[in-house]
Amino acid sequence: MPTQPSPLTPRERLVVALDVPSAREALALADQLAGRVGMLKVGLELFCSEGPAFVRELQARVPVFLDLKLHDIPNTVRRAMEAVLRLDPRLVNVHAQGGPAMLEAAVEAVRAHRAAGGRTELLAVTVLTSLDREALAALGHAAQPDELALAYAKLAHQAGCGGVVCSAWEAAAIRDACGEGFHRLTPGIRPTGSAHQDQARVMTPAQAVASGSTWLVVGRPITHAPDPAAAAEAIVAEIQA
Ligand code: C5P
Repeated sequence: MPTQPSPLTPRERLVVALDVPSAREALALADQLAGRVGMLKVGLELFCSEGPAFVRELQARVPVFLDLKLHDIPNTVRRAMEAVLRLDPRLVNVHAQGGPAMLEAAVEAVRAHRAAGGRTELLAVTVLTSLDREALAALGHAAQPDELALAYAKLAHQAGCGGVVCSAWEAAAIRDACGEGFHRLTPGIRPTGSAHQDQARVMTPAQAVASGSTWLVVGRPITHAPDPAAAAEAIVAEIQA
């Protein structure tokens, strides 16, 4: 379901990864970040520990990207997606590697949800950045990670997904192949002058937007900052600039 390009504000583009172990810590961060960022990303750790009721509580403060990366046979993904959609998160995702039929099953569930007034958009994960060329070769892929990411993005676009999760380094090629309305959500963002930690191929917020990212995922530079609200504001200012 590719959507028309909508001009997002710098604030709406910022997605903060809540990589914390408990609802208490996540809600404290949400209280500091509400109104300052576009979305909060809840991953498997937090979802498995705290569950759907916690997501509802969080969504009362800030829209949520539920980063569960579903990947199974089409029928199982459809049913899991239907369960996830009861929470009406702003974004959900599946692995593009699950193939066309699985992607289409997820798209159908999301389309039905949106037709009933839901707001969720579906993204497909292209290639995990933890998979380098060697790891892909071991899995039987001859392609480079960026070539495979583009192929998976085209597959997701054809199946009707709203966009992909990809590296900011691949966002421009994916935008050129699939169109501006097919969103690119990119992790690995580091504000100017901050530590890269374990991220290898990083971009600054301004570079990422200039390179075609729709949404930027930032975790530790905000969540580990002495003042997360101020860190988020500084990144919004950097996107604006
Ligand atoms: O703290 P940091 O900004 O590195 O957090 C980035 C977030 O994006 C984490 O939740 C991480 O799991 C996620 N992510 C990533 N690279 C990918 C996919 C997801 O860093 N390729």
